[in-house]
Amino acid sequence: MTRFAVALQLCTLYGLSLVLASPLKKPTADPTEPDPSFAVSVQLAGQTFVNKGLAAFGLIPSNFTDSTGNTFGGVGSAIAIKPGSFAKTADGNFTGTLIVQPDRGFNVDGTVDYQARQHVLDFKLAPYYSTDDLSFTAAQSTLQLNYQSTLLYFEREYTATTGLDALAVRPADSGFPDVISADPTMPIPATDFSHLSVDAEGLALNQDGTFFVSDEYGPYIYLMDASGNLLETIQPPAAFLPLINGALNFTGSVNPDTGRVANQGFEGLTLDSTGTTLYALLQSALVQDGGDDDTTSSFTRLLAFDVSAPLVTRPEVIGEWVVPLPQSKKSKTRAASEVHFVSEGVFLVLSRDGNGHGDSNDDSSYKQADLLAISGATDIHGTEFDQPNASIAVNGKLDSSITPGEYVSFVDFIDDTQLARFGLHNGDPDNQTLIDAKWESLALAPCLDPDFPNDFFLFTAADNDFLTEDGFVNGVPYNAGINNDNQFLVFRLTLPTAAANDLR
Ligand SMILES: *[C@@H]1O[C@H](CO)[C@@H](O)[C@H](O)[C@H]1NC(C)=O
Ligand SMILES: *[C@@H]1O[C@H](CO)[C@@H](O)[C@H](O)[C@H]1NC(C)=O
Ligand SMILES: *[C@@H]1O[C@H](CO)[C@@H](O)[C@H](O)[C@H]1NC(C)=O
Ligand SMILES: *[C@@H]1O[C@H](CO)[C@@H](O)[C@H](O)[C@H]1NC(C)=O
Ligand SMILES: *[C@@H]1O[C@H](CO)[C@@H](O)[C@H](O)[C@H]1NC(C)=O
Repeated sequence: MTRFAVALQLCTLYGLSLVLASPLKKPTADPTEPDPSFAVSVQLAGQTFVNKGLAAFGLIPSNFTDSTGNTFGGVGSAIAIKPGSFAKTADGNFTGTLIVQPDRGFNVDGTVDYQARQHVLDFKLAPYYSTDDLSFTAAQSTLQLNYQSTLLYFEREYTATTGLDALAVRPADSGFPDVISADPTMPIPATDFSHLSVDAEGLALNQDGTFFVSDEYGPYIYLMDASGNLLETIQPPAAFLPLINGALNFTGSVNPDTGRVANQGFEGLTLDSTGTTLYALLQSALVQDGGDDDTTSSFTRLLAFDVSAPLVTRPEVIGEWVVPLPQSKKSKTRAASEVHFVSEGVFLVLSRDGNGHGDSNDDSSYKQADLLAISGATDIHGTEFDQPNASIAVNGKLDSSITPGEYVSFVDFIDDTQLARFGLHNGDPDNQTLIDAKWESLALAPCLDPDFPNDFFLFTAADNDFLTEDGFVNGVPYNAGINNDNQFLVFRLTLPTAAANDLR
């Protein structure tokens, strides 16, 4: 649709005389509100949630390097908006700082000794609401991302973490007998290479500069200080821990007999609005819950921890619910890559397939930020279901004593009309404007619009798996045979249960 046609449509919409829309008039400014035709509404817990459409797109090129000289990849594994950074500028645009976290480095040919880290990106958001299609190049000015710095992660005594597969274990408490911060049995690559193996997936920032990182190996959650040093390790209930022949084994290369499936750890991590409850979502079902087969792995678990004083009282599990993940027509689980707190008992969950740019199949059929309500769900924390090998869903059939959370389809990332507005597409051909395969992160910021106090920008970014023809890991060049940019999308949503000052 042309600008003029939009102007005509808006005039008609507001009942104005068509004479006003003289063809001699300069093109009207871009609309400052989403076109009403984009709106998709869904109901959850008696309230109407609205997806008002895609508002911005940005990218970091696949060959970009960070301040350590390593390829700046995989950064969509987790994103978070730095507390207090988001603001509206005088011209009606927005600025802020995104903290983005890659996972364990370029690992197509095996795991690498990549130190976990986060990057600081300043951004300028210029929401675009018109029905006109932007070119791919023009679209990139709607979300401009400017790299600032990198913070590396360390465990005890300033030892760098590693991305290498956790083939060995370090016994609990070793060297750190302090009662609160003592570590449980830890994932390490080899007994003679005692570096903590971290495959970072989730990130939740505290107001005081400390932050929580969730990982796939444990699956553990690490509380880090503002300098990136480990303060405390949070271990989930025994049912989650990977056991091989009865012993803890954190490897990501084979599935354990019970516990989390390899590489299906805590993909999702989010804090409530008070910063005292931390939620962690497992990517798909535990092995004993049907997780080692993607046609039976749809019942995953969400945990809540009390983190009100994590260095004084060890964080305890205070809630645990079953999340029924969506399934494809062939009953394959759309695994969950992220969770984000909306309001008490209400969350956004990012579930998807793995098709798109970076995958051999270009045609994605599901990438969504959906709604989850747990208020009516059974809280199973502290029950027999937390015991080793205890199953909530034998062969993927949910135990009849359990009511799962309510899961509602919501924001579709692969809507063709919305993608086209930003020069993007789904399916063939496999080129730079194909939507990335692996979206793994969610962050919310208020639109600061007095007319729509419950409107929020939903930021999401893709994990590009460090795929570039011009890559570097620890000074060693690599060629992944494909250039896959780190793509970012921003949607505008109405979240009736969320209050603007109530989100972090
Ligand atoms: C990335 O590739 C582009 C296109 O080939 C090139 O212009 C740019 O200089 C490269 N950037 C880096 C950081 O190597
Ligand atoms: C917002 O940013 C865009 C893109 O940089 C710019 O063209 C525009 O003038 C800015 N202000 C408004 C009100 O859109
Ligand atoms: C864990 O399992 C892997 C794969 O079977 C094996 O190579 C490794 O030695 C095991 N580690 C421990 C600590 O048993
Ligand atoms: C776990 O429980 C199932 C069902 O009771 C049983 O078949 C399986 O052998 C158990 N696995 C282990 C490792 O104990
Ligand atoms: C990528 O494919 C789209 C859809 O066919 C096309 O419009 C676009 O021009 C192509 N872009 C490049 C860079 O080849």
